[in-house]
Amino acid sequence: MNKTSTPALEIKGLNAWYGESHVLHGMDLVVQPGEVVTLLGRNGAGRTSTLRAVMGLTGARKGSIRINGVETIHMPTHRIAHLGLGYCPEERGIFASLSCEENLMLPPPLKAGEAGMSIEEIYGMFPNLYERRHSQGTRLSGGEQQMLAVARILRTGARLLLLDEISEGLAPVIVQALARMITTLRAKGYTVVMVEQNFRFAAPLADRFYVVEHGHVVERFGAAELEAKMPVLNELLGV
Ligand SMILES: Nc1ncnc2c1ncn2[C@@H]1O[C@H](COP(=O)(O)OP(=O)(O)OP(=O)(O)O)[C@@H](O)[C@H]1O
Ligand SMILES: [Mg+2]
Repeated sequence: MNKTSTPALEIKGLNAWYGESHVLHGMDLVVQPGEVVTLLGRNGAGRTSTLRAVMGLTGARKGSIRINGVETIHMPTHRIAHLGLGYCPEERGIFASLSCEENLMLPPPLKAGEAGMSIEEIYGMFPNLYERRHSQGTRLSGGEQQMLAVARILRTGARLLLLDEISEGLAPVIVQALARMITTLRAKGYTVVMVEQNFRFAAPLADRFYVVEHGHVVERFGAAELEAKMPVLNELLGV
């Protein structure tokens, strides 16, 4: 198999548990390098659990999760991350007592000697963060914290980004800025898997969509089919 045909992420028959609780039931998902893929679904469908399982953050996992062709199902989280993954959980994990810039300077690169996105490039992409670079974490708005959380992942050099509900609860102007950010990342060749409740945010950004229900995929389609799929989405998600 040559490099261009190896998916950035390939999940097959994934089952995952939290303790006794069986939450993923045969998830299948393929993401090609440079794609933006959105996971849709109702509350509790298993989208966050899918991202967490990819990072090795659930309990037991069975099945297959390949990252750039490498099987990771038996790997611990730190080894998985070093394959170039960046996970942005819903709780953003901004260090309150550190400044915006200190938060950005914190993460070491995932691969020794390979720098992530430079601070200049980060500030070019997020002018708000440049303006707020000396502000303490706690003093940043929700939107600024969200941008900082994504920017901090880019600093690590991660090329496959797992983003959980980044638009949630944010003002429309910030949501627009996040949409521009996704478009920019796509143009720069990043691979993005986003979990989204906000269908209007995700719809114009994603190359492909998966609908998750009860811990497995019930629908998958490309952006070109989106309009034709609206009645089905309406039924499944009420969008
Ligand atoms: N730490 C946990 N321990 C036990 N069960 C959990 C845990 N986290 C999630 N679950 C359960 O796993 C199932 C899938 O939850 P998950 O968080 O993946 O859903 P989701 O699609 O992200 O939805 P949403 O974010 O809207 O709640 C749910 O039934 C949830 O109650
Ligand atoms: Mg969730």
